[in-house]
Amino acid sequence: MDVPSKLLPAVDASLSDARDPVLRTREIQGDVLVGLEKDVENFLFFRIADVPAFKSALRRDLISRVTTMEMVQLREVQIQAAKQVGHHERLHLSGLNIGFTHRGLEVLLGKGQADGMDPSFISGAAAAARDLGDPVDADGRPRWIAGFAHDEIHGVLLLTGPFGGEGHELDVIEKETRAILDLLGGSVQVVYQEIGRVRPQRGHEHFGFLDGVSQPGIRGLTARQNPANPDQGLPGQDLLWPGEFVFGYPGQSPDQAVEAPGPEPEMPHPWMCDGAFMVFRRLNQRVPEFHAFLETQGEALGLDPALLGARMVGRWQSGAPVMIAPLQDDPLVGEDPLRNNDFEFGGDAKQRRCPYAAHIRKTYPRDDLEGVVPNGEAGVQTHRIKRAGIPFGPEVQEDEAEDRATKRERGLMFVCYQTSITEQFEFVQKSWSNNTGFVFGKTRPNSTDPVTPGHDPIIGQTTDGSARTMDEPLPNYPTGNTRSTLNLPEPFIVPTAAGYFFMPSILALQTVLS
Ligand code: HEM
Repeated sequence: MDVPSKLLPAVDASLSDARDPVLRTREIQGDVLVGLEKDVENFLFFRIADVPAFKSALRRDLISRVTTMEMVQLREVQIQAAKQVGHHERLHLSGLNIGFTHRGLEVLLGKGQADGMDPSFISGAAAAARDLGDPVDADGRPRWIAGFAHDEIHGVLLLTGPFGGEGHELDVIEKETRAILDLLGGSVQVVYQEIGRVRPQRGHEHFGFLDGVSQPGIRGLTARQNPANPDQGLPGQDLLWPGEFVFGYPGQSPDQAVEAPGPEPEMPHPWMCDGAFMVFRRLNQRVPEFHAFLETQGEALGLDPALLGARMVGRWQSGAPVMIAPLQDDPLVGEDPLRNNDFEFGGDAKQRRCPYAAHIRKTYPRDDLEGVVPNGEAGVQTHRIKRAGIPFGPEVQEDEAEDRATKRERGLMFVCYQTSITEQFEFVQKSWSNNTGFVFGKTRPNSTDPVTPGHDPIIGQTTDGSARTMDEPLPNYPTGNTRSTLNLPEPFIVPTAAGYFFMPSILALQTVLS
């Protein structure tokens, strides 16, 4: 997200912590912890056709072009410096990252040489589809877009860059892609490629909401900007140990919320150090249908459609959280990084401000489980993800808006990083978003009966075709006890492709993998 720099205070060096790990920024790929700068991003899925030729091209030509975390950080300094001397145009920088499926690693390393890694990574995204509630055929195979031959995929190249000139927006990325494919020659076959691009309303996903507002803070990377809490980056952004997202560093202690380092994530192979798992999901968004739903359901419930949307997400389109702005949008809060994340859910024990099932409460319940499960917030912090997605597809066209029906595919190329796909992405999707009982242990005003919060109305899926619902779309704020249920007759998001990848360190690329 572009943070308006005028809103950020100078970082106070006295707020650093000697225990913070030193990240090997020359080893870690740039998209993992910081995120590559991107107007456009080509996701290029490939099969290795000639192993020796691929290894030699990788060693000779590709590795030196891989954008490291150090390079992304230096670019950010450049961008800030350019802004300070009045250059507000965006710097035009390209990036390249690379990852491999488990099958791809075995092709490079030999059968059995990538055993013992995360079980979800080994079995792959297609095997997970049914359990995640993705659309599948009678045999449990995912119904993904034609051409996305997932069995064939050995790796992915992430190519990022600026827009070209008007009418030629994709020229730069297409040229970069051709250059990289030339270097790889016949050693790879392209299985599928597709370009994601930021929307004209920069930073907003297709439903219209500001995205990328809340990300985990990372010790050793994120500057402390909350003098009132040295364990936070921006106010409300808890600092986590980097081992949650990249191998070779301490992770969270499941017994202690943030302060003490926990064990390093298990690394069955030394070459996994400074690498990370990447989850890719191509999620179609049915945008006209979503807005039509907000209108008709808003009318039925006597609720402003914008408020209904905000209660489903947990934030207004501006990014302002309903925990802070429960009834009306407050765009000044939405754009202010010092305020737009500065909240917890525990104090909202009756979902007066934010429905228990709202997308951001389901996917990161913050302190909601304190006193509900034994390790409360500490447990929550072991299921975080670092997101780095980008929208794809055109803006909604007139005919679609008129007919309130999607006629051209669009959505989110969802990407997230973690050190355990099982415990992080899949856990969030299955055990939280899809689980009608989560958030646990909650009640309504004047009642001790437990509430069933329902599905995350944005991404929650069912595995048995049962109806989706969300509890309490109507706000009982500041008082009241009206019961309401939101029926979600159709999904607004449809998974149409997915893949699980390992993003190795530069050293691993230079040695065992090439
Ligand atoms: C097309 C699909 C999706 C849309 C439109 C969407 C939209 C959003 C929006 C608008 C936000 C709030 C702004 C922010 O904090 O960044 C958000 C936050 C978040 N989303 Fe999604 N999302 C989608 C898919 C997913 C998926 C598949 C997951 C993981 C299973 C996920 C996990 C999260 C998390 C962890 C947060 C941050 C919560 C917090 O820290 O407060 N999202 N999403």
